[in-house]
Amino acid sequence: MSNTLYDFGMIGLGTMGRNLLLNLADHGFSVIGFDKDISKGATLEAAATAGTTVKGVSTLAEMVQQLKRPRKMMMLVPAGSVVDSVIEDLLPLLEKGDIVIDGGNSHFTDTLRRITYLQDKGIHFMGIGVSGGEQGARTGPSIMPGGDIAAWKEMKPLLEAVSAKVNDEPCVAYMGKGAAGHYVKMVHNGIEYAIMQLISEVYDILKYHVGLSNDELHTVFKTWNEGELQSFLIEITAEIFLKEDDLTKNRLVDMIYDKAGSKGTGKWTSQDAMNLPVSIPTIDAAVAMRTLSGFKDERTAAAALYKPTIKTITEGKEKIIQLAHDALYCAIIISYAQGLSMLHKASSELQMDIPLKDVVRIWRGGCIIRSSLLEIFTAAYKRDAMLANILLNKKVAAIVKKKQGNLRKFIQKSIAVKIPVTALSTALGYFDAYCRERMPTNLIQAQRDLFGAHTYQRTDKEGTFHTEW
Ligand code: 3PG
Repeated sequence: MSNTLYDFGMIGLGTMGRNLLLNLADHGFSVIGFDKDISKGATLEAAATAGTTVKGVSTLAEMVQQLKRPRKMMMLVPAGSVVDSVIEDLLPLLEKGDIVIDGGNSHFTDTLRRITYLQDKGIHFMGIGVSGGEQGARTGPSIMPGGDIAAWKEMKPLLEAVSAKVNDEPCVAYMGKGAAGHYVKMVHNGIEYAIMQLISEVYDILKYHVGLSNDELHTVFKTWNEGELQSFLIEITAEIFLKEDDLTKNRLVDMIYDKAGSKGTGKWTSQDAMNLPVSIPTIDAAVAMRTLSGFKDERTAAAALYKPTIKTITEGKEKIIQLAHDALYCAIIISYAQGLSMLHKASSELQMDIPLKDVVRIWRGGCIIRSSLLEIFTAAYKRDAMLANILLNKKVAAIVKKKQGNLRKFIQKSIAVKIPVTALSTALGYFDAYCRERMPTNLIQAQRDLFGAHTYQRTDKEGTFHTEW
């Protein structure tokens, strides 16, 4: 065993773990990694930049023993029981004061349980959200740490060094108490689900109703990415339309089976929104549509039964493309609004003290939902750190006021041509309801009181009332 003591250790050398470690090494930190698959240690060393200090080992003990104190290590392993079993394997090797980070997509309640379990043993356990995919991990992700303040202070220089930078500012900040890091990452993914669903709905119209070719779709999305819709997801969508399939020479996107996978973070966002409660219908719709995509056999049978015909237009393409642009922009703002309002509520409800101004600031770079909109949101939270909903900000309101008419028109058009725009519709529905001082829920209260004596409140005086209907 060498005498070098390493700055940081990684458990799990899959692409994310390896890339994050190589990124740390490129920033001058000495790093060591362990994976059960011993070939991955060699792959790690082979990928290291010349002159950096990178070591792969084949046992957990070798890794832990060669770390500087207090030892700092992260696991990037599949969420769930694997995290617990790594913790159990680590425990006999750790000392009081060591820092163990879970950098995966763990459910925040698991993270809370693990924090308490390890606190009793003197170990600092942190849940950290990392977003940016494989490339982001290598070149600069957005990093969402939460929990133990002392551990955050120890980790800060390392995390700041490897994170993405926007105007030289690192895309990492303390996200709050307890499991706030994993919570913020969960909601980030919920927003990601919503935006992806919205883009797919717009694609549906542009491809099957407007009849755009993949080359034309590429041009539309590329142009959009150069304007107010500028974002990572729009950028990669433009690229996708150009990719050729090696097997058939068709465009790859047309050869991909239409069943969407998911690893659970979108569903967790919806589930916890219901628990809080807070209303995030566009994220809910995105989860529901991924689920429905899995019912391929039933959809095929229903298509044969109902025979929906989708007409392709010959004129007025440019107009629909403009409507699509505004509809997408407006619905994306509303999706961020839902996710951020969830964080606002969770911050107090779950005692996490999530600094929303920092959340939007560190999402500006590195992460999957980075977009030019985050600059506008950062300015909004700078003005009012306790803003309950981004739709209440005057600048955001000015944009939404301008675009909502086209969102409405685009939805009307889509419904008329039988192309489902479930997420777009929920965005508009949420917005319209949010802007109503008086909702029709007085009637629901009357019904509840009539059949269940559930009582109601009155508009003209304080108190709780029941009527014998
Ligand atoms: C991830 O965390 O890998 C993605 O951001 C979300 O993954 P999913 O779409 O598989 O749930």
